[in-house]
Order: sequence, then C-alpha cells, then structure tokens
Amino acid sequence: MKIGALDIDRPVMLAPMEDVTDRAFRQLCKRHGADVVYTEFISAEALRRGVEKSLRKLKTDAIERPFAIQIFGNSVESMVEAAVIAEEYRPDYLDINFGCPTKKVAGKGAGAALLREPEKMAQISEAVVKAVSIPVTAKTRIGWDLESINILDILPRLEDAGIQALALHGRTRSQMYKGRADWSWIRAAKEQARIPIIANGDIWSAEDAVAMFAETGADGVMIGRGSIGNPFIFEQAKQLIQTGKPMPMPDFRQRIEAAIEHLKLSVQFKGEKYGVLEMRRHYSTYLKGLPMVSRARNKLVREDGWEQLIDILLAYRQECEGYALEGKIHDGAEYLNDHSDKLILNY
Ligand SMILES: Cc1cc2nc3c(=O)[nH]c(=O)nc-3n(C[C@H](O)[C@H](O)[C@H](O)COP(=O)(O)O)c2cc1C
Repeated sequence: MKIGALDIDRPVMLAPMEDVTDRAFRQLCKRHGADVVYTEFISAEALRRGVEKSLRKLKTDAIERPFAIQIFGNSVESMVEAAVIAEEYRPDYLDINFGCPTKKVAGKGAGAALLREPEKMAQISEAVVKAVSIPVTAKTRIGWDLESINILDILPRLEDAGIQALALHGRTRSQMYKGRADWSWIRAAKEQARIPIIANGDIWSAEDAVAMFAETGADGVMIGRGSIGNPFIFEQAKQLIQTGKPMPMPDFRQRIEAAIEHLKLSVQFKGEKYGVLEMRRHYSTYLKGLPMVSRARNKLVREDGWEQLIDILLAYRQECEGYALEGKIHDGAEYLNDHSDKLILNY
C-alpha cells in the first residue's frame, strides 16, 4: 500500500481512538508490530485557538514512524489552519476524521455529520490537501444511516479532492457500534477505488484480519477496540498474514508484562499523577479472565504510586504462577472477545 513515500505491504494499522491512542499506547502497539499508528483525533478549532491540551496531543516520537495525525472540524477555515499547525509536527501523513458519530463531534457538524454534506466534505478535503505538502487521507463510515449509505458517491469526490487513501469503518453513523460492521461495503468501495482502501471494523483476532483482507481485497487493515488490552494482535495478525502460521496466544505473563510496559510508558509521557490515573481504565482488559482478578484490580485502581503498581502487578503474576500449577489458567482467545468495555461506550 502506498501513501506518499510510504510503501508497506498489507499493513496492519492502529486505529485512532480518543483517550486510548496516546503516545504510550501508540508506542506499545509499535513494539508489538503495528505498521502505522494514528494519534487520537484532535479538534481543529482547539488547535487554532492554541489550547494546550490539544497541542500536547500532537507530540510524537521518531519510534512511532510511520504515524498519522488526525484532525476533525466543521469548517474549511479551521481545518486548513489546523492542518498547517499539525504539519509542523511532521507526521508521515495527515488524516481527516469524517467518521466520529458522537454528539460532541457529529452534533456540531464535524466527523460523521459531514457524510450528509458531501459537497462540504470535498471542500474541506481539497482545501486541506492544498494547504499542506504531506499526503492527506480520510477516515469515514459507509453513510449516515442504513437508508442513506453513500460511500460509493463520497469516494470519488474525496479522490478528486486529492485524498490519498481512505480508511473505511463498515458501519453507518446511526449504528454507532451496534451490530456488525458490514464488510461488503468495504469490498464495494475497494472495487471502485483509485486510492488505497484501509478496511476497519470488528477485527478482534489475527484470523479476523486475514478474513478482512480476503473478503474486502483492501490494501490495509485497521484495528481499534481489538487492540485495547491486546497489543499482541498486531504481531499475531502480521505473522498469520505473511506466513499462514498462527502465533500462540499471549499467556498471563506476557499480558501482565504488557500492562507493566504500558504503565511505564504512560508515566514517562504524562508524569506519575496523570500516567497512573489514565492507566486505571486499562487494567481490566489486560487481566480479563484471569483467576481472582478482582482483588488485584481493586488494589490497582486505588494505588497512586507507579512503582507500587508494578509491585502489585508482579505479585499478581506470582499468584497466577500458582493458579497455573493448579491448572486454573486457560490462556486462550476467550478473554479478547468481550465487546462491552466501558471504553467503547464513551466514544
Ligand atoms: C474509545 C474509542 C475512541 C475512538 N476515537 C476515534 C477517533 O479519535 N478518531 C476516529 O477516526 N475514530 C475513532 N474511533 C473509531 C475507531 O477508530 C474505529 O473506527 C472503530 O472503533 C471501529 O473499529 P474496531 O471495530 O476495530 O474497533 C474510536 C473508537 C473507540 C472505541
């Protein structure tokens, strides 16, 4: 798949996720094989007003390359200004969010709301493409609702505007995260596309990633929720795609190790107070399905010191060694498929 100077064969990419794909999580996913990572979406309006919290989201490290910065907004002017600001942070490419379904974004005419204004979507795309010298891509859904699926009309407009690749989530705005993503629309888009199509929606395992490539013919795949608490999914998917041989599922030691790695990165980039606080929502996914986990989790969400947190995780790992000897741990894929995470409901 080619985007500007980037050329990666069947990339497995980390989807942009607000409050999830910060520097720490992106770097963790990189270590585990993600080919391309995206920042959380960043408000164009906030960037143009110089809001510190949003400017901080533009920070990345060389180790994350190749990476994309994603911006969202509802006006040509703010998107152009934000694109110019984002370009200074030297992403490999810039991505425009045309897919966010939430009230705070779509309710203000940005994100997925632009699916109802194809003309404006094209204007924003064209203006952003003209304003920067790096490649510009877009990410969207298949339409506003099931009665108005218009991705096949949107696609050529984006192509004509100079968009260089499209990440497509196979749901409508109205579906939010309900039901299953309809991969057949991704296939239909791919069949007609002149630009690379990145397929997204409901990849929960390496096998799903392989199936997504096979069923859609897409140039790349993008994984969101399936990577939360499970950064292993990238290396697993890549190995299966490239060799046809599955990697073993991570055992409890590797999962606890990943939680420790994530915590350390989080503290490194956000400092102890915020790094520790923001990690709290992640422990349950790393530890999902392990025996007697609630006691450990309760300790983890109450502790403020990062070194003490590592001690708690190491002690729990030791405890798990005992459970493993007693045959109480079954490392398998079951723990990965809980779609009801609180994190998902927030977006
Ligand atoms: C917590 C959360 C935050 C998200 N934030 C963004 C975002 O900032 N930008 C974006 O384009 N999509 C965002 N998404 C949508 C994902 O990128 C992705 O399209 C969607 O989750 C479907 O893929 P999946 O089934 O692999 O999770 C978010 C999704 C979740 C669950």
